[in-house]
Amino acid sequence: MRFLVILSALVALCAGHAIPTIPGDNSHYVEGESRYVWIPDGEGVPRLVDLEEPADESFSDARNGANNEYWLFTRRNPNNHQLLRINDNDSVRNSNYNRDRPLTVVVHGWNGNGTSARLAVDALLHEGDNNVISLDWSIVASGPYTNVVRNVPSVGQHLGNFVQWLINNHGGNWNNVHLIGASLGAHVIGNAGRTVRGRIARISGLDPAGPQWSDSSNALNRNDAVYVECIHTDGGLLGIFDPIGDANFYPNGGTNRQPGCSLSNCSHVRAYELFAASVIYNNFIGRRCADLNEARNNNCTGANFLMGNTDFSKRGSGLYGLSTGSEWPF
Ligand SMILES: *[C@@H]1O[C@H](CO)[C@@H](O)[C@H](O)[C@H]1NC(C)=O
Ligand SMILES: *[C@@H]1O[C@H](CO)[C@@H](O)[C@H](O)[C@H]1NC(C)=O
Ligand SMILES: *[C@@H]1O[C@H](CO)[C@@H](O)[C@H](O)[C@H]1NC(C)=O
Ligand SMILES: *[C@@H]1O[C@H](CO)[C@@H](O)[C@H](O)[C@H]1NC(C)=O
Repeated sequence: MRFLVILSALVALCAGHAIPTIPGDNSHYVEGESRYVWIPDGEGVPRLVDLEEPADESFSDARNGANNEYWLFTRRNPNNHQLLRINDNDSVRNSNYNRDRPLTVVVHGWNGNGTSARLAVDALLHEGDNNVISLDWSIVASGPYTNVVRNVPSVGQHLGNFVQWLINNHGGNWNNVHLIGASLGAHVIGNAGRTVRGRIARISGLDPAGPQWSDSSNALNRNDAVYVECIHTDGGLLGIFDPIGDANFYPNGGTNRQPGCSLSNCSHVRAYELFAASVIYNNFIGRRCADLNEARNNNCTGANFLMGNTDFSKRGSGLYGLSTGSEWPF
């Protein structure tokens, strides 16, 4: 076994695909070229991912969007979720779902689960008496990264169908629906939005996952909702740097390393944390950038535009830069 590990390490080296040895150190990483990358799991612990790991067909068959769980939190049940099930009217009738209130869905990333979105759920309930659903897609998300990537569209399609069923059968308003997704979760909500033909009012993509996504037609794009906003904090590495939303924010240049970050898992998660802070304080003022270079150099001086928040009527487009602090609430 040990011999095999050493042998495969040697083979990898010869192929120009050295296995990085320092957990969380992605300084070797070149987008589209590197075979190995450290990606933090649901608790931020870096896991080594082989981006050339072959597809496992049995994984797709066994784990897909049919495993999604929809965890409802409201101000009446801020700590203990109620499980909503598609095609199960009683699961909604017996819950605190309120058709007259906004619906916000928060979606975790690789190796996360329904409790990983705690920070956002708390911020959203603090801000208003909303229906906040945390999508638990952990059965899919806990697999090998490359297999998980292949099943993201299925998870998103099931989410889209669920939201449509919920609104059709139990009320709600497409103009008051906001999907929020971090990392792989950003591509999940993109696929959800496409499934319901762009009727979702708002999508917030928080450092949408980069590895295996930069040229993918399954990635989040600006047609997936009426208004799609992205916050980029680890662009070109664990996140996508390209402006794939209508409005695209590049805090502190949009790349690794964000202020106060020493490990590379920190910058990727920062977009999610910045968004949660924006829900409560709503004081991140972006300045419009003329181009991506200005964004990268954090040198934007154009018109003001607020980053994040929960304003359903928010509309805008273009690139925006800003500087933030190094710790909560930034
Ligand atoms: C990053 O990883 C370290 C070491 O595994 C962990 O202690 C830390 O909590 C992680 N940070 C974040 C922001 O997830
Ligand atoms: C769910 O995620 C949280 C934090 O992200 C973690 O502490 C917990 O162990 C996970 N639960 C399961 C059942 O994996
Ligand atoms: C669920 O409720 C909706 C609306 O109240 C109704 O139209 C539908 O027939 C119900 N479905 C089932 C399976 O009972
Ligand atoms: C930022 O923009 C100003 C004005 O265009 C320019 O003078 C300056 O050199 C730029 N700074 C950086 C770091 O690019």
